[in-house]
Amino acid sequence: MAARIIDGKQVAKDMREELKAKVATLKEKGIVPGLAVILVGEDPASRSYVSAKEKACEEIGIYSDDNRLPADISQEELMAVVEEKNNDPKINGILVQLPLPGSLDESEVLLAIDPAKDVDGFHPMNVGKMIVGEKSFLPCTPHGVVQLLARSGVEVDGAHVVVVGRSNIVGKPVANMLSQKKENANATVTLCHTRTKDMAHFTKQADIIIAAAGRPNTITADMVKDGVVVIDVGVNRVEDATRKRGYRLVGDVDFDAVKEKASLITPVPGGVGPMTITMLLYNTVESAENS
Ligand code: GUN
Repeated sequence: MAARIIDGKQVAKDMREELKAKVATLKEKGIVPGLAVILVGEDPASRSYVSAKEKACEEIGIYSDDNRLPADISQEELMAVVEEKNNDPKINGILVQLPLPGSLDESEVLLAIDPAKDVDGFHPMNVGKMIVGEKSFLPCTPHGVVQLLARSGVEVDGAHVVVVGRSNIVGKPVANMLSQKKENANATVTLCHTRTKDMAHFTKQADIIIAAAGRPNTITADMVKDGVVVIDVGVNRVEDATRKRGYRLVGDVDFDAVKEKASLITPVPGGVGPMTITMLLYNTVESAENS
């Protein structure tokens, strides 16, 4: 079986059109949703994520408040910036780009964000609400994965989902969200990680694989069954002398080989990536609607 490729860009575009209409309705009421983006340091990958987020905000009419801070900023100074955004009525969402430089205490910063403005869904209050199935801001990448599955017509209810990777940003929350007793969920979820013995034993049983390990070729064709649905969350740079910038982006899945066995598969780039930013816009609009 040769897979249908899930077009994340198109799904994201459809969702952004819906959000644009919501922003227009809010503007009629005199409300402009505002997102504060806080980037500490010069990490090139983080800078390009943040630029993409700011551009996406502009495109749908969200006010983007850009805060680029030096890598040597003190914990106190960073906490003061977060506090200022907590108290700014123009700001509905606050995003602190992770990872922070090693000298800073990430947990303390995330805990300082007002949970009502935590559009990343990383505050322990929102994480707790998500786990018990209460309404909360859902973290953007896992929520994007759930939306991508739903909008591609994939039956998740009763399916065996194998998640590969246990990060706080993707693996753990997506495993939790898909096992909720809810619409677009109700899956049987197996969470594999670096200490899993014989990973292929589990991935071969999967109806749906979510690869979020952060390593190229984590999922190869011999590890999957025919007809599997594959969502590739990985974004890895591999050297490529034929490209002007000297590298290309690949996911965690051996795309060319796995697509010959899968029924549906996401590419990298153009799969999950555009959905992450879209769900950030979604949370920011929702926060403005709640305010
Ligand atoms: N770094 C990688 N992914 C994310 C994300 O979704 N949000 C934030 N704040 N930082 C990230």
